[in-house]
Amino acid sequence: MQYYQFHGTELSVSQLCFGCWGITSDFHWGDRYETDSIAAMKTAIECGVNFFDTAPMYGDGASETMVGKFLHDNGLRDEIVIASKIRPGKMRAADVIQECDESLSRLKTDYIDLYQTHWTDPDVPLAETWQAMLDLKRQGKVRHLGVCNAGLNDLSSVGDIEKPLSDQLPYNLISRMIEFEILPQCDADGIGVLVYSPLMHGMLSGKFHAAEQVPDSRARTRHFSSQRPHTRHQESGCEAATFDAINAIVRLADETGKSLPELSLQWLLSHHGIASLIAGAKNESQARQNANFVSDTLDEDIVAKLDQITSPVKQALGANADLWDGGEASRYN
Ligand SMILES: NC(=O)c1ccc[n+]([C@@H]2O[C@H](COP(=O)([O-])OP(=O)(O)OC[C@H]3O[C@@H](n4cnc5c(N)ncnc54)[C@H](OP(=O)(O)O)[C@@H]3O)[C@@H](O)[C@H]2O)c1
Repeated sequence: MQYYQFHGTELSVSQLCFGCWGITSDFHWGDRYETDSIAAMKTAIECGVNFFDTAPMYGDGASETMVGKFLHDNGLRDEIVIASKIRPGKMRAADVIQECDESLSRLKTDYIDLYQTHWTDPDVPLAETWQAMLDLKRQGKVRHLGVCNAGLNDLSSVGDIEKPLSDQLPYNLISRMIEFEILPQCDADGIGVLVYSPLMHGMLSGKFHAAEQVPDSRARTRHFSSQRPHTRHQESGCEAATFDAINAIVRLADETGKSLPELSLQWLLSHHGIASLIAGAKNESQARQNANFVSDTLDEDIVAKLDQITSPVKQALGANADLWDGGEASRYN
């Protein structure tokens, strides 16, 4: 396992982060099983993962609770870098302290290593939230500050006060929106990009070959037609381009002797400015595979072929990095 040290800090995190959204049951993931999730977390740590990403929004606090209990019961708190987040709706200065205290209590700890805004709340200036987060840092309740889903304006509004350590963003072979503006800007400014959904919610696992095979709960993003139930965007989607790309990557994977998720994770790591890949794993086997996948790299010609195969879907989704909301409704600033 390789480790990434954030600019100007001692904080070092594994290139693979354990994503804790899917460790508890919810509408998106369906049923999840505690024994499988605990085994996945244990395996990840055995494989060198020292970084866990969670949030109050995941399972309405249940994800933080499971992570806190697991680390506490196994005496692992100080070995692991915990990242958590502030919910939109709790971003007024007066709410941020309570939000953090509740996370600390669920996580059974007195500090969070990396505290992030989850989404920008359109009703609250991000600078107000950021000032409150700086107070939390001065109080020692959080060690470092980052943002998630921040576009160029958000980065600049917090950067004028104190540069964030990281921006957590969606990025994978079929969601390349951040390549247009945000990734180059973060790279230039020394802000580590934490990649979320590196396997596009499992669409890059190899088990889906057509849009109709993806369950409705996972077919809510801008890849899919707005005719799909539960979508919020009003766009036509790009289902043909998406699945043409996925099926072409599967053929390339066969030629190279690698699997689709393996190519997906290694392609991400070929890009400059990426601090860590936050991948979900629902069981021990997925956690072990993902750790093995990040231990190898891709030849430049394979990276170039993947860039070419996924170019049509990149152009179809454009520079709006919001996976779920389109046009004026995009939550990116
Ligand atoms: N900041 C934000 O707004 C935000 C948004 C989304 C996610 N995140 C973070 O990013 C993390 C990861 O993103 P994600 O959960 O959206 O999705 P992801 O990591 O792209 O996909 C996870 C899913 O991929 C499949 N998978 C994982 N490893 C596999 C393997 N080795 N082989 C085959 N399939 C495999 C599993 O699907 P099955 O369940 O079908 O087996 C798993 O549930 C989250 O847990 C969360 O921490 C943050």
